[in-house]
Amino acid sequence: MSAVGAGTVAGSLSVVCRRGCPPGRRSPVVAVRSGGVAAAAPILTQLRGKCATPLPVLRRVADAMAADIRAGLAADGGDGLPMILSYVDTLPTGGEKGLFYALDLGGTNFRVLRVQLGGKDGRVIDTEFQQVSIPQELMFGTTEELFDFIASELARFVEKEGDRFQLRQEMKREIGFTFSFPVKQTSVDSGILIKWTKGFAVSGTAGRDVVACLNEAMERQGLNMHVTALVNDTVATLAGARYWDDDVMVAVILGTGTNACYIEHTDVIPKLQGPKPSSGRMVLQIINTEWGAFSNSLPLTEFDRDMDSASINPGEQIFEKTISGMYLGEIVRRILLKMANTTALFGVSAPEKLCTPFTLSTPNICAMQQDESDDLLTVGTILNDVVGAQSSLSARKTVVEVCDTIVERAGRLAGAGVVGILQKMEQDSKSLIFGKRTVVAMDGGLYGHYPQYRKYLQDAVTELLGPETSKNVVIDHTKDGSGIGAALLAAANSKYAN
Ligand code: GLC
Repeated sequence: MSAVGAGTVAGSLSVVCRRGCPPGRRSPVVAVRSGGVAAAAPILTQLRGKCATPLPVLRRVADAMAADIRAGLAADGGDGLPMILSYVDTLPTGGEKGLFYALDLGGTNFRVLRVQLGGKDGRVIDTEFQQVSIPQELMFGTTEELFDFIASELARFVEKEGDRFQLRQEMKREIGFTFSFPVKQTSVDSGILIKWTKGFAVSGTAGRDVVACLNEAMERQGLNMHVTALVNDTVATLAGARYWDDDVMVAVILGTGTNACYIEHTDVIPKLQGPKPSSGRMVLQIINTEWGAFSNSLPLTEFDRDMDSASINPGEQIFEKTISGMYLGEIVRRILLKMANTTALFGVSAPEKLCTPFTLSTPNICAMQQDESDDLLTVGTILNDVVGAQSSLSARKTVVEVCDTIVERAGRLAGAGVVGILQKMEQDSKSLIFGKRTVVAMDGGLYGHYPQYRKYLQDAVTELLGPETSKNVVIDHTKDGSGIGAALLAAANSKYAN
């Protein structure tokens, strides 16, 4: 691949993006190009300044997160976070026994899973899972079509249950349903879909109990199963991690989207002080914060604001848009487009493909950041293959710096969010958090696959808590906690318990 020398286009004058961008997507910047790649330096310097997250900024974010959590616990619909009650007050103890199923729906794929639990000694004796992708047309079809498809795949999976899995004779199969869309939970095994997100536009589901939708579909498929828990992916992750470690108090998903949940004392939840939703025995409850909706005190840039305005949900999910996998590549693309439009970063004009929203993905920017070669060959290949950009070595270095600036901000803000939750737990409830070992269970592809992100997150936690206290806070990657977690919650809420 030939690299475009920066000097060759120095000083050239052009109206940018004429070829590349259809009218709606044209960059507002009409540039007089000057300088070579070096001309991008002031944009980079300004970007770094705006995205900077020194300790005072992290503190403000952590404090604002704690304040928004309190506000959300006080009342629904105010300035605070959604703080959705999960009604999960029975956590797995390790003593669970028997065969349980889980269904995990949160994106364009869903997973079905079975697990044989052997109690305190046997723990997870055996497990099996299957991933199924949802045909595109079902994402825009009817509720019956979608749930019938899911139930039929589940039925086929159940049919393949081998002798290694043993259901107690008098029991019906029980299943935990992880459903990672905004749900108004009405009990541990029921909840009303508020709206579809993540590209789904299925008719007739919003306003309905999603467990009833699944039950009806299972009945139509002749599948004799019982949903005993409906949970968000964060809640399932917390339950799954807690099964192995009693010190787990918080769970965070950092993937396409982001969210966090934690264990709260029910007597510090003002909005729970009305009629008690379940048996009244609740002392603790997992709260789904929906922290993606957080927006206070964040160091945002014109690129974030433009991306938000162009999104399907402007003004919503600002924290999610700043720190989660769906958006990091897109923020970087917008910055590179501005650089390509106003400087000679990629030659005389911005490459056509760079004008298309979401062409650059977070896995792309992650792969570029892993390139340690002297000539940044991988960076050059990705720029060429993905956005059609010819790049000089100095252009590639600039691109890596942009990726790093956006990922550093994201990781450090996620760390500040975690500390905000821990701070709230320490100050308001009876949980002793900082004085003992406390585990934060992390899951999601972004956290799992992006080493720099993980490091920036950990650095922020250490800076905020100081070297001594941060030793007690363990940020732990729990792979596939949510699949097993949903099955464990099905077991913990089994109709046959006791
Ligand atoms: C989105 C959903 C939330 C989910 C998160 C992670 O933010 O609203 O419920 O937990 O994505 O999957």
